[in-house]
Amino acid sequence: MRILVIGGGAREHAIAWRLAASHRVTEVLCAPGNPGIASIARVLPIATADCEALLRAAREHKVDLAVVGPEAALEAGVVDLFEAGGVPIVGPLKAAALLESSKAFAKEIMGQSGVPTARYEVFTERAALERHCAAQGAPLVLKADGLASGKGVFVVHEEREFAAALDALFGPLRADKVVAEEFLTGVEVSCIFACNGIEAIPLAPAHDYKRLRDGDQGPNTGGMGAVCPSPRITETELAWIQERCAAPVLQAMSERGTPFRGFLYAGLMVPVAAADRPHGIRVLEYNTRLGDPECQAILPRLSSDPLELLEWMAGMRREKPRLQWRPETSACVVIASDGYPEAPKKGDLLEGLELATLVPGTALFHAATGRDSRGSLISAGGRTLSVVGFGTTCDEARERAYQAVDLIQLKGRRARRDIGL
Ligand code: AMP
Ligand code: GLY
Repeated sequence: MRILVIGGGAREHAIAWRLAASHRVTEVLCAPGNPGIASIARVLPIATADCEALLRAAREHKVDLAVVGPEAALEAGVVDLFEAGGVPIVGPLKAAALLESSKAFAKEIMGQSGVPTARYEVFTERAALERHCAAQGAPLVLKADGLASGKGVFVVHEEREFAAALDALFGPLRADKVVAEEFLTGVEVSCIFACNGIEAIPLAPAHDYKRLRDGDQGPNTGGMGAVCPSPRITETELAWIQERCAAPVLQAMSERGTPFRGFLYAGLMVPVAAADRPHGIRVLEYNTRLGDPECQAILPRLSSDPLELLEWMAGMRREKPRLQWRPETSACVVIASDGYPEAPKKGDLLEGLELATLVPGTALFHAATGRDSRGSLISAGGRTLSVVGFGTTCDEARERAYQAVDLIQLKGRRARRDIGL
């Protein structure tokens, strides 16, 4: 089979890499890809959200199945177009991807289907939200309704921070709706479910590290690292999450006539005290895709055929696949450019990758990398590389990952040292 992977980050590199190892896959294509993906797949220079060009390329290259990585392509309606054009694709229709692209919609569905989540109210006017903030006081969480690459959420700990958050929400972020919700405490876990519109299959749970600096300090990012399987929840808790946080949403979406096919990612807040679990677990948000960097930690552990899973999700296979996982733990460390996330520097040399790939028990995935005029590898955006270590324990996995990370050079790079601790 010929598979087209849509996207060009480390998540898509991991998807392409895992698919390339499937004996039933004859060729992997990727649009737009990146220099790392180009070493294992045929890359096509098509922008992620250029849906028409993607469909033309899929037809021209006789693609049997496409897989979407990033939310931007989903929001642009790539799945709608491929389905209308008769090319099988894994991902939700635009109307189902609203679970991620509108926080207010996600809250409404959670309310209707009884999913445990933080209490909230939706505001369309600044004055009304100001009154609400003054009445509630801090801590309070304010979220812009639409997609904002992780920049639309303000966890306000002190009342004097409200004004700046409101300025950003109604200023540069141009939010026409803001969700104000209860502040929750605990640890975060990412549970991703593969869905075919009716049923869900849980992937191995992971957790990511959202803050820039060690000890969960600094600004929020797209994710600076991930661990899989996450030791933060048990098998029983995962089953509870599937029953309470995934199945009711699938049912609600199906009843609305917009069944959810694709990866449903539940971002969860899990209470630390065992006595408060599982009943105290709350959904913070849904994403309608694989997480980045979670995917880089999850997919290499999948030992059963990834194609069977994708075919089931796309409605090409009836029999529900049984996923098998390698027993190792994986730890993924992100190397980001100087200035990330505020103003990432581009064009700096990335060196030492050849040596890093020789470290046993590791895998290296490219994100925002490029080539300069001499063909040398350079940084091309915020998160540049994901380095994944595998081990019989989490400590071993992280030691291997950092052994490879330490062989890579990028001026002013930002990488956390505490992934997996
Ligand atoms: P979201 O995009 O909704 O997942 O929010 C981004 C991050 O903000 C989450 O990963 C949490 O770290 C934090 N966050 C979101 N909602 C809450 C909440 N209700 N209470 C505490 N922290 C939150
Ligand atoms: N790692 C969080 C995300 O993919 O949204």
